[in-house]
Amino acid sequence: PPTGPLVGRRVVVTAGGTREPIDPVRFIGNRSSGKMGTSIAEACARRGARVDLVTTASGLPVPPGVRALHVDTALEMREAVRGLTADADAIVKAAAVADFRPASYHDQKLKKEADGLAEVVLTRNPDILAELGRERGPEGPLLVGFAAETDLEEERGREKLHDKGIDLIVINRVDMADAGFGVDTNRALLLTAQGGRTEVPLTTKSRLAEVLCNELEHLLAERDRG
Ligand code: C5P
Repeated sequence: PPTGPLVGRRVVVTAGGTREPIDPVRFIGNRSSGKMGTSIAEACARRGARVDLVTTASGLPVPPGVRALHVDTALEMREAVRGLTADADAIVKAAAVADFRPASYHDQKLKKEADGLAEVVLTRNPDILAELGRERGPEGPLLVGFAAETDLEEERGREKLHDKGIDLIVINRVDMADAGFGVDTNRALLLTAQGGRTEVPLTTKSRLAEVLCNELEHLLAERDRG
């Protein structure tokens, strides 16, 4: 049986970038690799949590003890997460969800000869995390968001915490060669709704996952105490 400080906890983690299809062969995507979310899932499982990983990263190995659900689009991710929310103690949204998707899907491959200038009309995706923040009651799960930024702007981070109604936000840099999308290292700033602030200078994504797990344990214990 699993042991560790997160035994008895259920954690849902999302990872990777969503892919929004245009036609059978094309999609709108982003550079998220899924490494950060997968590292968080791994760290939580190692501490004894039951972990569901909702991920777009089909190429990454699923860590031991983690149950993976593979999705492509923001709408699929939303359905998967909503299906797991009722039983979750914490939801960590490390995925880079596309803010927009093509308004219509062409079931035939678009041909360059067909219409001269191709145009893709976009429509807004729901903000999954903000929805969870709006809909959760007092018994609802802890909510953790990520914000990919080109600076570690604390003010904007606090605004996002508040606007999305979540408990913790991890602001991470995506504009440097050694942080963010695709690489194994990261730089981050963790802000909590109660005013907590933890700066994490350049480190591995595994190490950042451990720092986040420490924070998660702390917040869960605090919530248990009421
Ligand atoms: O507002 P912004 O996109 O920076 O917020 C990022 C956070 O919100 C991430 O945790 C991401 O997973 C989540 N998000 C979401 N649904 C969206 C957009 C972002 O859950 N449509």
